[in-house]
Amino acid sequence: MALRQIRTIGDDILNKKCKDVKEMTPRIRELISDMFDTLYDSNGVGLAAPQVGILKNIVVIDCGDDPHVLINPKIVETSGEQTGSEGCLSVPGKFGMVTRPNYAKVVFLDENMQPSELEGTELLARCICHEVDHLEGHLYVEKVEGELHDNDELEEEE
Ligand code: NI
Repeated sequence: MALRQIRTIGDDILNKKCKDVKEMTPRIRELISDMFDTLYDSNGVGLAAPQVGILKNIVVIDCGDDPHVLINPKIVETSGEQTGSEGCLSVPGKFGMVTRPNYAKVVFLDENMQPSELEGTELLARCICHEVDHLEGHLYVEKVEGELHDNDELEEEE
């Protein structure tokens, strides 16, 4: 198990566009494995390669169903709308309300560089959209409706 350092808001790398992966290599396999380790260690549901300082189009997602690796993902279909609270491992201690599609379909290459697709609704759709935004250099804070809140505000309310 190897953890990578998570880059946080203010780090320029989070605003850069990523490049496509052209071939699977041992280094990229190791990166994907480390991304999952880092994701689970942080109790997150998704992590994009630029968040660990690598400008490649790679995302790992685990919303509690199955672990998904999306290489060179492209969202090809969305529908509906959901508004809910969203956070990001690169914006620690914060959350905000974001409107996303309620359904998203994404095409990508799997770990064997074979074409694959994934459809999601609700949390999975939100996560797919959030992570693909990272690859384009965008953070959810750009889309927050109203204020960004501190996680401890939530604890006070409860
Ligand atoms: Ni994020």
